[in-house]
Amino acid sequence: MVNHFLKFSDIAPEEIQPILDRAIALKSGATSNALVGKSVAILFEKPSLRTKLSFWVGTEKLGGSPVHFAPEEIGLGKREPVADVAQVMSRMSDIAVIRTFEQSTIEEFAKNASIPVINALTDAEHPCQALADTQTITEQLGSVKGANVAFIGDGNNVAVSLGYAVAGLGGHLTVASPDGYTVPAEKLEGANTYGAAAAGSMKQVTSPKEAVANADIVYTDVWTSMGQEAETAKRLVDFDGYQVNPELLDQASANVKFMHDLPAHPGEEISHGLLYDSRSVAFDQAENRMWTQAALMEKLIRS
Ligand code: NVA
Repeated sequence: MVNHFLKFSDIAPEEIQPILDRAIALKSGATSNALVGKSVAILFEKPSLRTKLSFWVGTEKLGGSPVHFAPEEIGLGKREPVADVAQVMSRMSDIAVIRTFEQSTIEEFAKNASIPVINALTDAEHPCQALADTQTITEQLGSVKGANVAFIGDGNNVAVSLGYAVAGLGGHLTVASPDGYTVPAEKLEGANTYGAAAAGSMKQVTSPKEAVANADIVYTDVWTSMGQEAETAKRLVDFDGYQVNPELLDQASANVKFMHDLPAHPGEEISHGLLYDSRSVAFDQAENRMWTQAALMEKLIRS
């Protein structure tokens, strides 16, 4: 049975901390030859900076060779059926890193692949981001256990994966979203079940002020995700009042840290300059993508 990472809960809660510990060790100079002689195929249906760069360089750090395909090169499911692309990639590479719109596309890909498949973002989840986020929280607070994390914005892919990761490590995520943009009920329930043994939790509120009270971390993501560009004008109206700015951070814990998965849209979900505020750890998050994904690939290739 091949191990995939298609959604955060594909790893058990007790597997998270060892991945983060290994990522921190790699960041501190530990070396690995886990991918020597192996190739990682990276295939995206959407644009990417951090994900492409971090998987590419992360693969090389483990001694492997990355092979990247831009969206128009493959025509996944259009020029060639998803199942056939999965089979071809499985014959010539050792890990597939896929970014798709629909979660069902990556699920279908994985069903037809005989190599580990990693979710590099879908509309439903962004599990690799959540690994980098929890590494960053660990670096900042010493541990995710007991941490209060507030997520302000759209309850979609980034918030969902973050909820599983934080709850699975015994932290508490409060998501503040306007009506119509809340975390799907089954994901909220799923994250709470996933985090139960670690006493972690995820909850949904409407008020950003309520979410940030006592928060050690305040996190936000774009209001308009990739593929939703036609809804931009409506979303600007619907998310009015959900901007993270210095005034909102001032209402959180005294030592609060600000997080963003990037790219950011200053003037929308964050105020101008917030990424460079002394409380921002957004660029640590970006770097940590590489270390956590290297640790993940090492684990998947060896299992
Ligand atoms: N929610 C955003 C995350 C970007 C990394 C999107 O899906 O576009």
